Amino acid sequence: MIIIDGPAELCGEISIQGAKNSALPILAATVLCKGQSVLHNCPDLTDVETAVRILEHLGCRCAREGSDLVVDNAMTGCEVPQELMREMRSSIVFLGAIVSRCGEARLCFPGGCELGPRPIDLHISSLQKLGVEIEEKGGCLQCRAPGGIQGAYVSLSFPSVGATENLMLAAVCSKGTTIIANAAREPEIADLAAYLNRCGGRIYGAGESCVIIDGVKELFGSEHRMMPDRIVSATYMAAAAVTGGSVTLRDVDNAHILPMLSPFEESGCEVRQMGGSLNIMAPRRLMPVKHIRTMPYPGFPTDAQPVVMSMAAVGSGTSVFVENIFENRYRHAEGLQRLGAKIKVEGKVAIVEGVDRLAGAPVEAWDLRGGAALVVAGLAARGRTEIEGVEYIRRGYEDIAGNLALLGARIREAD
Ligand code: EPZ
Repeated sequence: MIIIDGPAELCGEISIQGAKNSALPILAATVLCKGQSVLHNCPDLTDVETAVRILEHLGCRCAREGSDLVVDNAMTGCEVPQELMREMRSSIVFLGAIVSRCGEARLCFPGGCELGPRPIDLHISSLQKLGVEIEEKGGCLQCRAPGGIQGAYVSLSFPSVGATENLMLAAVCSKGTTIIANAAREPEIADLAAYLNRCGGRIYGAGESCVIIDGVKELFGSEHRMMPDRIVSATYMAAAAVTGGSVTLRDVDNAHILPMLSPFEESGCEVRQMGGSLNIMAPRRLMPVKHIRTMPYPGFPTDAQPVVMSMAAVGSGTSVFVENIFENRYRHAEGLQRLGAKIKVEGKVAIVEGVDRLAGAPVEAWDLRGGAALVVAGLAARGRTEIEGVEYIRRGYEDIAGNLALLGARIREAD
């Protein structure tokens, strides 16, 4: 449980952790690289621990040295056990890497946050185009590439982040060339390609809609520094915004923040970006965020929708949200309503009428970013907010209570 006694005006400076959604596919990619990889700025999260347990189950050796994670690839296995697959949705991204390295793979349908149905049809159809035979049996995938993986042209019907990553991992050591049309453009895709190219891969255009991958014979481990986590940055910006504070974030990648700036500026915050830092100064009372539509990058990211909804909850007017990426990503509205927010959810649309002040209450997190939204709202609420479901928050945030306490919040974790 996280306990917050609000309200508190946040001010001060914190450093932003490495990106969870870079670390996870890059850890899967180490399966392809012979020898040792040293991953700098690797965040200390339960999702990263899960990925490390998968690597160790496959025979790799992992050791954490501060914010560095060292992976020695001594891979022997090609199966990921059900209990590990169930813990984290993104474990499906191991599929492409394992079947490329071993010629076969056995994984079960992933678990992870419940954000509506999380199909993997694009992952499966894409890998089949590269010659991977995939058989579904009892919720598990039996995959084989008897003749090796053959490059092909794959056009994604939706720019799926995970499917793009799975394709890159399957194609990087394949025969021939793979072209991915309508690839996801999230910055984490470019981070994955940077690591793979440093290991000897030939991936061009990552971060754009068309990615070309010339298969190479083998890859060798290398050093790589994870990019900063843009969603964690947005979370602390929202915390400053709802508390009328002034906060500086260090070690951010300001280019990745740009698609998220509009709601902060619309609500009256002043954001100054300089080099690897960002300062946000909030007004005493936020104005509403007019219209938030989540879209694939470089549109407004779905992962930042929950924490911006917490800002809208205390804005001086009505805000409209349209969630276009996931079917069920408004579960945090229930907790926000418990804190006094006025929110009406109709399918993909949520209408938020700002209130003057939220009131602390016991609430429950149902997913990672929804939990972060409840923390943000608790900082602005008068009185005590107790948030159950901290395990979801720990999946993506390194010591969120410690960081917020550094900024002046009265917050702590309790069993
Ligand atoms: C990644 O998930 C991120 N996770 C998510 O962050 C993020 O919300 C999402 O991309 C969108 O940006 C990681 O990178 C580990 P998608 P992913 O495939 O790859 C549908 C967080 O909080 N779809 O782009 O699962 C899917 O149902 C997490 O850090 C299919 O229909 O996202 C969803 O509606 C939450 N079939 C949409 O596409 C498929 O085969 C976007 O999914 C695959 C996806």
